[in-house]
Amino acid sequence: MSDSIIIARSAEHPAVQIIRFNRMEKKNAFTRAMYRTMTDALNAANSDAGIRVTVFLGGEGCFSAGNDIGDFLAAAMGGGMGQELIDFLYALANAGKPLVSGVDGLAIGIGTTLNLHCDLTIASDRSQFRTPFVDLALVPEAGSSLIAPRIMGYQRAFAMLAAGEAFTAEDARQAGLIWKVTAPEEVESQTLATAAKLAAKPPEALRLARDLIRGPREEVITRIDEEARHFAARLKSAEARAAFEAFMRR
Ligand code: COA
Repeated sequence: MSDSIIIARSAEHPAVQIIRFNRMEKKNAFTRAMYRTMTDALNAANSDAGIRVTVFLGGEGCFSAGNDIGDFLAAAMGGGMGQELIDFLYALANAGKPLVSGVDGLAIGIGTTLNLHCDLTIASDRSQFRTPFVDLALVPEAGSSLIAPRIMGYQRAFAMLAAGEAFTAEDARQAGLIWKVTAPEEVESQTLATAAKLAAKPPEALRLARDLIRGPREEVITRIDEEARHFAARLKSAEARAAFEAFMRR
């Protein structure tokens, strides 16, 4: 288990599992070990009747700066990405119980796209959502190329995923990426209260309703695989390696 992710139960609402990003010194950039810990927690929720909702939370002013670029560089140098990221994306797509996220501040790369798999997201008014995939010579991941245009329409999805435009919290709310905008100091309490309300509902009815609203998982998984094939090839490109090296050299 990675110390950079803290898995806990809400003290007030034990049926709410909390996945807390805890690598603030690196802006909560996700390492392979962090993905592994998060995947285990998501999979545990599927089989543990005591967990009814899982919540993602970051730190003050920073949700996540996305995948660790050092890990990207290691993959570009021939080390490969390993299975951890793809397993995490499968776990998100296969989550059988509601996922709720609370975003305060930076949400970059997968810090943005993981919210596409959440059922409800509450973000602070100072949050910023950004996916600089193409600027890093990469392609969108996490099924975002399928899910984002569906929820926000083609042009906004293109602006976010291909043009790398930053979305404010209000932009993200209008685009349907998130549910609510609130003050920074309210994010955690509102996120946990939202999760607790869901956790109190009849679980089987909630599961069925959620499955109906989300639609088939298979097409999301197929798109995750298709994106991952391109992503793996792009990681090895000279232009991607140059972009990662430029970031690491700053
Ligand atoms: N991977 C690895 N390390 C990262 C990181 C990432 N994605 N994001 C931030 N960090 C590290 C920085 O290297 C720095 O480490 P250091 O203190 O050892 O030098 C530390 O986190 C703080 O980041 P810093 O850049 O100094 O903070 P900032 O407030 O000036 O900028 C960001 C924050 C997030 C805007 C900036 O770090 C950034 O652009 N990160 C990359 C985001 C990204 O492209 N992610 C991949 C998406 S696919």
